Amino acid sequence: MTADGNSRPVFSKQSMIHDHLESVVKRHLRSYYLKPPFEHTKLAFMRVSELTSVQQKPLILDSGCGTGESSFHLAASHPDHWIIGVDKSAVRIDKAINKKIPDNLLFIRADQFDFWRLAADANLVFESHFLFYPNPWPKKSHLMRRIHAHPAFKDLLHISHNLVLRSNWRIYVEEFAAAFEFVTGSVGEMTQIHPQVAVSLFEKKFLASGFDLYEFRCCSKMQGCERGH
Ligand SMILES: C[S@@+](CC[C@H](N)C(=O)[O-])C[C@H]1O[C@@H](n2cnc3c(N)ncnc32)[C@H](O)[C@@H]1O
Repeated sequence: MTADGNSRPVFSKQSMIHDHLESVVKRHLRSYYLKPPFEHTKLAFMRVSELTSVQQKPLILDSGCGTGESSFHLAASHPDHWIIGVDKSAVRIDKAINKKIPDNLLFIRADQFDFWRLAADANLVFESHFLFYPNPWPKKSHLMRRIHAHPAFKDLLHISHNLVLRSNWRIYVEEFAAAFEFVTGSVGEMTQIHPQVAVSLFEKKFLASGFDLYEFRCCSKMQGCERGH
């Protein structure tokens, strides 16, 4: 992945929030997600739990961190926090690990959806959770692959006080905001952003390509709320 300015914009036949979004999100709220977590994610989660209980500091989660630029950025700007960078790709996590890692940063290869569920089950709470440029899955038929239409979305809302999502696809952010409102009854804040310094590799690439970028922010910790099981 290079950060040149020739990325293609997201193309989708969807011109607005998916018609099935509300029913999908509400169905997930009523049901239990039966798939057992991947073994490697369980082990990675144990590593995070052990490390962060030995050296207690506030936690920040960077899900889908890719090659880790955003995690390094967060580690530098929050020296008193633990930063946990999670990605499912061994290749990307290896690239991140091969750099000089500060003491407050841990990279793990894990499935983020399983990780969020394990964290919610263990009541592990992050001060902030960042989702920088998740894969948009822009085909209408791919709705269920988007984070906000995944069964683990409700877990995601239980594991952090503050949640930040960025995307170059406006509809993705609008859907995420709508899903957040369907689940919590609260409204977050969606804005168009103009970063002076790119926080991640994809942000750098999208800025160089001149794309509009969007952000959703909310206070997300749903203490005491049902997670459907
Ligand atoms: C478009 S890239 C964005 C990477 C980085 N956040 C950035 O802004 O440069 C999306 C990343 O999400 C990761 N990803 C996708 N599905 C995932 C999952 N289920 N669990 C963990 N990581 C996932 C991919 O491996 C990829 O690195």
